Amino acid sequence: MKGFQVAPWELRWNSLDLPALERTESIFALSNGHIGMRGSLEEGEPTGLPGTYLNGFYEQHALPYAEGGYGYPEDGQTVVNVTDGKIVRLLVQDEPLDMRYGRALEHHRVLDFRSGTLRRDTVWESPTGRRVRVTTERLVSFTQRAVAAIRYEVEPLDGGVQLVVQSDLLANEPIESQSKDPRVAATLNSPLVAEDAAASDYRAVLVHHTRKSGLRVAAAMDHELDTDDGLRCEIHAEDDLARLTAAVDVPAGSRLRMTKYVGYGWSARRSAPALRAQVDAALAGAMQTGWQGLADEQRRFLDDFWATADVEIDGDDELQQAVRFALFHVLQAGARGESRAIPAKGLTGPGYDGHSFWDTETFVLPVLTYTVPEAARDALRWRHGTLDKARERADALGLRGAAFPWRSINGAECSAYWPAGTGAFHVSADVSDAVVRYLAATDDVDFERDNAVDVLVETARLWTSLGHHDLHGGFRIDGVTGPDEYSAVVDNNVYTNLMAQRNLREAAAVCDRQPEAAEALGVTADEQQAWREAAEKMVIPYDDMLGVHPQSERFTEHARWDFEHTPEEKYPLLLHYPYFDLYRKQVVKQADLVMAMYTRGDHFTPEQKARNVDYYEPLTVRDSSLSACVQAVLAAEVGYLDLAYDYFAEAALTDLHDLHSNVRNGLHIASLAGAWTVAVAGFGGMRDHDGALAFAPRLPAALRRLAFRMTYRESRFAVAVDQDGASYELLAGPTLTVRHFGDEVTLTDGSPRRLAIPALEKRDPPSQPHGRAPRRRTPKH
Ligand code: BGC
Repeated sequence: MKGFQVAPWELRWNSLDLPALERTESIFALSNGHIGMRGSLEEGEPTGLPGTYLNGFYEQHALPYAEGGYGYPEDGQTVVNVTDGKIVRLLVQDEPLDMRYGRALEHHRVLDFRSGTLRRDTVWESPTGRRVRVTTERLVSFTQRAVAAIRYEVEPLDGGVQLVVQSDLLANEPIESQSKDPRVAATLNSPLVAEDAAASDYRAVLVHHTRKSGLRVAAAMDHELDTDDGLRCEIHAEDDLARLTAAVDVPAGSRLRMTKYVGYGWSARRSAPALRAQVDAALAGAMQTGWQGLADEQRRFLDDFWATADVEIDGDDELQQAVRFALFHVLQAGARGESRAIPAKGLTGPGYDGHSFWDTETFVLPVLTYTVPEAARDALRWRHGTLDKARERADALGLRGAAFPWRSINGAECSAYWPAGTGAFHVSADVSDAVVRYLAATDDVDFERDNAVDVLVETARLWTSLGHHDLHGGFRIDGVTGPDEYSAVVDNNVYTNLMAQRNLREAAAVCDRQPEAAEALGVTADEQQAWREAAEKMVIPYDDMLGVHPQSERFTEHARWDFEHTPEEKYPLLLHYPYFDLYRKQVVKQADLVMAMYTRGDHFTPEQKARNVDYYEPLTVRDSSLSACVQAVLAAEVGYLDLAYDYFAEAALTDLHDLHSNVRNGLHIASLAGAWTVAVAGFGGMRDHDGALAFAPRLPAALRRLAFRMTYRESRFAVAVDQDGASYELLAGPTLTVRHFGDEVTLTDGSPRRLAIPALEKRDPPSQPHGRAPRRRTPKH
C-alpha cells in the first residue's frame, strides 16, 4: 500500500516514492527542540532537502529594500543547515547502496510515537543481484539534549559478502532552492567556515562558524562496531568532512551492526576548544548510557508525556493517528528548547527562515502549558530574554515599553514587510496572554516575580504609548495589523484591542501582587491606574446595522472580494493578487474576529458569537494553516459540530495530506497544535478565561468518544466525552474544581463524575467562499 498506513501509535510509509521524498523528510523529522534532523535516508542520496538544525543557530544577511524607510530592520536571519551527522553510506561488494538503482524488494519507514524513534527496514538488491537487509533506528534524545544516535544493521541475504560502511559528518551540504514564495527560506550557500577538524579511533569532530552572525558550532561522532573479526577501520577529518570507513567480510547468517552517536553544541561566545570539549563530553555521556539506555530513556520520557497529554478518538482512526502525530511533533518542537524560541516549523525544515512568530504563544504554548508546563515556561523565558531587543525596537518606533518582533530567531525584528510585520503589534499581547495562562495553570511564583512582571509591564507600556484616548473618551489603537494578513494598518482591530485590554489589566494586577518587582521597573500607582483606564475605555467597534463586530473599524463597509470569479488555482491569494487590492476588500486570510471570540470569548454573548461566525465564514479563505483550528473551535461553540469536524480534519491533516503543498519546507507546527486545540477547546469546549477551567463538551455525529488529559497546577485529570455525557476524573494531585456548562464540578480522588450534555438547538451552518469549503470529512478506519 502506498502512502501512510493508518495505525494508532505510529506512522508507517511503505515504498520509496521519490517525488514524495522531501515531504516525508519533514514528516519523519526527529527533534528534541534543540537538535532537529530531517528524515533523510541514511545514505545521503537520494535526498530531497537535507537539513539538520540547532535551535537558535542562524546566519545573518542584509535585508534588501528597493526603497528603504526609517525604522526598517536592516538584517535578516536564516536558519542554517548545520553539519549533517545522519549520513551512513554502504557499499555492498563495491556497489553503493542507492535506492535509485537495483531494486528495493522491501522498504518501509516507521515513526513511532511511543519509542520516539524513526525506524527503517529495507531489503535491497544491488544491480548485480546481491541482496542485503538494512535496518536502522534513529533518535534525537529527549533526555540528553545534545545527542542523537543511530543504530545501523546490515545482514547479507545471499551468502557472505564484503561490506564497507562510511559514516560521515558533512558540513555545507549543497541545497537547491529557488522560489519566489515568501514562505520559503532565503538560500544560503556554504554558510559554514571550517575552523577545526580532528579524528582518532572511532571519533571525529568538526568545528565551524558562520561568517556574519559569528556563531560557532561543533559536531562530533563516535561509533561502536559490533561484528565478527576482520574489521578494518580508518577515520579522517578535513574541513567539511569527517569520515569513518569500516570494511568487513560478513559471512552468511551474520550481520554488521554499528551504533553511531552524534553530539552537537553551538555558542555565540565559547571558543572552539571549549565547544569541542562540550561535544566530547556529550558523546562520553551518550556512550556511557549506550544505545539501549538511550532508547529506554526515550521511551520513559514519552510514557510520561502520553500519560499527561494523550487524546483518544473513537470513530475516526485516521484522525486518531493524526492527533497523536500532531502532539508528538509539538512535543518535539518544544521539549528541550530551553530558553530558545519555538519556530513556526519547529526544527523540521527551513521554511519561514526558521523564524518564530505569534504561532508559538498563541497556538503552541497553550498545548504545552496544559501538558508539559516546563516547556512552556522555557519558551516564555526565551521571550523574556529578548526583552532588551524588544525595548530597543519600541524605542526605534518612538514607543515606550517593549515591542516583540513579528518574526525572529534571536529576538530582533526580521520582517522586511512592515504592514504585516511591525504593524502586527498584537504579538506583544499574545506573549503576555501566554504568560498569564502559564501563571494561572501553574502558580509558578518564581516565574511571576522574575519574568512575568517584566513582560506584562513592558507590553502594557507599549499599549499606552501606541494608543490614545480620543475626545469621546475611548481608548483607540489605530494603524495596526490584526491576525488577518489580508487587511493591514487598520484602526481598532477587535482582536488586538481585546488582547491589549487583557494585557493592561493583567499588568496592573501583577504589579499589585509583586510590588517589589514592579517598583524596580519604576511602575507607579498612576501608571497602573492609566493601564486600568485604557483597558476600561478600550474601543471595540460594533456594526449596529448588521449586528456584527467588524474585525476592525469600517471593515464591514468595504467591497466584498469577488469570490465567485476567483478560480481555485489562484489560492493562496497572496501569491496571485496585489496586497493593495486584498487590503481594501472584505476577504479574510485567517480567523481574526473569530480568533478574538476564542481567546477573548468572555467579551462576547452567545448570540454575538453565532452572528459573527455566520458573517465571517463566507469571507474566510483559510490561506493560512492557522485558521481551520480556530474556525473549528468557534463552529463547535455555536453548534455547527459537523463543520467543526471538517475543520478538525483539515487542521490535523494539514501536513499528512500536504494541504498547503509546502510540507517540503517543514511542518506547520501551529496547525498541529491546533489539532489539540480543536479536540480540547472545540469538542471539549475548554476555556480558561481568568484562569479558571471551564468545559462545554459536545461531539460531532461521526465520533463515538473523545478523551483527553491535562495538567493544571498540581493536578492531572482526564475528560471523556461521548454522545450523551461527559466524565471528569482526577488522575493525580489535589482536588480540583472545574466547570461543566457553567456548573461547578469538584474532582476528588478515585471518583469520576459523569454529567449530562444539554441538548443543542439545531441551526444551518453558513457557507464558505466559493471553492473554499473544507473537505467533507467521512471517518476513515
Ligand atoms: C500567517 C501568520 C503566521 C505565519 C507563520 C502566515 O501565513 O498569516 O499568522 O504567523 O504564517 O506561520
